[in-house]
Amino acid sequence: MTQKIISLAIILTFVFLSCSDLRKKMDESQLIEAKIDSILVLMTLEEKIGQLQQLQIKKNMHDSVCDLVRQGKVGSFLNPGNLETRNRLQKIAIGESRLGIPLIFGRDVIHGYRTVFPIPLGQAASWNPELVRKAARIAAMEASSEGIDWTFAPMIDISRDPRWGRVAEGCGEDPYLTGIYAKAMVHGFQGNDLKDPSAIASCGKHFAGYGDAEGGKDYNTTLIPESELRNIYLPPFKALVGAGGQTIMSAFNDLNGIPASGNEFTLRRILRNEWNFDGFVISDWDAIIEMIMHGFCKDGSEAALKAIKAGVDMEMVSTSYMNNLAGLVNNGELNTGLIDDAVKNILRVKYRLGLFDRPIAEVPCENVILTADNLELARRLATESCVLLKNSNQVLPVKEPVNRIAIIGPLADAPREQLGAWSPDGRPEESQTPLAAFQALKDNRKYLYAPGLQSSRDKSTRGFAEALKVAGSSQIIFLFLGEEAILSGENHSRAFLNLPGAQEQLIDLLASTGKPLVGIILAGRPLILSDIEDKLDAILYAWHPGTMAGPAIADLLLGKSVPSGKLTISFPRAEGQIPVYYNHRNTGRPPSEVHQGMIPGDPVNPVGHAAFYLDLDYRPMYPFGYGLSYTTFEYSGLKLSADTISMDDTLRVEITVKNSGLYEAFETTQLYIRDLYASLTRPVRELKGFQKFGLEPGESRKVVFRLTAADLAFYNYKGELLVESGDFRVFVGKSSADVLEAGFYLK
Ligand code: NOJ
Repeated sequence: MTQKIISLAIILTFVFLSCSDLRKKMDESQLIEAKIDSILVLMTLEEKIGQLQQLQIKKNMHDSVCDLVRQGKVGSFLNPGNLETRNRLQKIAIGESRLGIPLIFGRDVIHGYRTVFPIPLGQAASWNPELVRKAARIAAMEASSEGIDWTFAPMIDISRDPRWGRVAEGCGEDPYLTGIYAKAMVHGFQGNDLKDPSAIASCGKHFAGYGDAEGGKDYNTTLIPESELRNIYLPPFKALVGAGGQTIMSAFNDLNGIPASGNEFTLRRILRNEWNFDGFVISDWDAIIEMIMHGFCKDGSEAALKAIKAGVDMEMVSTSYMNNLAGLVNNGELNTGLIDDAVKNILRVKYRLGLFDRPIAEVPCENVILTADNLELARRLATESCVLLKNSNQVLPVKEPVNRIAIIGPLADAPREQLGAWSPDGRPEESQTPLAAFQALKDNRKYLYAPGLQSSRDKSTRGFAEALKVAGSSQIIFLFLGEEAILSGENHSRAFLNLPGAQEQLIDLLASTGKPLVGIILAGRPLILSDIEDKLDAILYAWHPGTMAGPAIADLLLGKSVPSGKLTISFPRAEGQIPVYYNHRNTGRPPSEVHQGMIPGDPVNPVGHAAFYLDLDYRPMYPFGYGLSYTTFEYSGLKLSADTISMDDTLRVEITVKNSGLYEAFETTQLYIRDLYASLTRPVRELKGFQKFGLEPGESRKVVFRLTAADLAFYNYKGELLVESGDFRVFVGKSSADVLEAGFYLK
């Protein structure tokens, strides 16, 4: 009896607490709305439009900028430069403008601030959202300590095209996984309480479809049917909004003929009306006036009108709102209600961030930049991001008696390059390179170094003789290859994805020594490795790993840690295979094992009609979800809890995973489904769950997933969300291409 009363008391307290929490939240948001309304009535049209303008601070424009702030003609700045400038402008806004509305300062804090973490595509390969959340938290702590209120991250564009330089900034090709990372990053950047001085607002970008740029050329047109938009490109944004992400950036691209920054369908109907997003939307840089160049607007006035009608609240850098909105209101083309809505959205976020109460940023009492903890997390995330693609004869990790190691290649000691694209606050002098990490080791090995090439694009073979000499006096060669930071990121698309410069020649030269050759590749995207794969005994794909690249890679090569990264984007065999992605549809003529290309000399396709190439394997070089370990994992005993489930049931999926090798290691078990027939053809695999866990040698673990009808839903061509009865397959395994399978019926 006493027991029951205690339990009841606990439940009641819990219910009461959650209600009072809820009540507090409700009160808080009502209070904010009331405050917003009370400011709005005081604002002139000019001041309202001012809130919608974000400017960048250019050198030599301080006086004119200060005047604009004084007149209430600007609501935000990007790239404030430093804390002093930021606070100087803020003091003018709160002390000298008529209404004292604080400014909000944004910056691209994409994968770290001073402590640079791996590029997001690398972070994603960790399959460890909790680590990614912690990295975003550190980035927020560092950035906020220098006066940043808001980051233009996470970038959650799905992309299937590694030619596009911005694949580096996203999480890869899968909507479900990207959604999970979106949530993790929002929680990391924004913390538990937006008002905390270390919280910065996040910004989900680029809304929408930007990653599908035709031909992989940045800024290029996208044509995406509504069902594909909703099933593939939008889910990460929906997840971000659900996680409380405060802002969204409208993209540069033309989406189905309507530029994304003037697109009422995506911005107003989906984002605002369907998802109830109540933060604010910022355009990408000049994206509003670029609608003139797109051929969608006659002039700046029409661009401003279309953007505000679509639901873009703040304009980044260009000034079409500042120049035209008042005129549009005065001539009756624009209702002030739309401007009021935009102002409210912006003020709401400023209130939530506590900018009205704490407008002046303060340096925290304790240093938060590049602390030992920050660096340790950067090292861990870099370690978990690396993907072991090949390891013939267990050449890795290095074992006794190997103790003379050649370190060669243009990226062995390239402190700036290892930071990757979009790391404006990372400093090369704070990077720990692989060469420095090996040289700092106090072990009994000898590390001999020769760069071979000065940079990834170096075509000169001048350094080859020295590299050969170093290789000749070593027992194993670590060859650091790849592409420099500048070859990926915004505006850096490539048509050819092989190793640039004379790197392939360097591989040939070193392979001729017959010494074990390990390629460590630092790159911002999947590169094409077909021509070099068989010349390398092992390949460790490290992406651009950030500040702690060196220690992380050294740990992996020497066996202090074991690789656990897995790809979140498929690696093509050749550019001609792009787009190649795991969640494609089956077609009416799917290829099979026999479709390996045309037999040399045979003039006709000998194996029957199928969606394949005569001159190339139809499968990717490395599939989504792939990555090796130093140990081996065995999968067995896939069991489903039922053959048939109804719409309200939960299907339990169970499998046993055993570490059958010699190293303690992490494995990521992946669950995919396939809807075999539906009113809209469905992908051959869709990721629906994953679990990352550690196992000691010989240890086994039962891994359990649960599927409900909601996991089987999809949007049809009319944009309706459906769950259809029928046969489904379930696949569980190490990668999208290495699975055990079973089936069930949904009734
Ligand atoms: C343009 C980029 O597309 C966007 O991602 C970035 O946040 C802005 N410039 C601001 O730098």
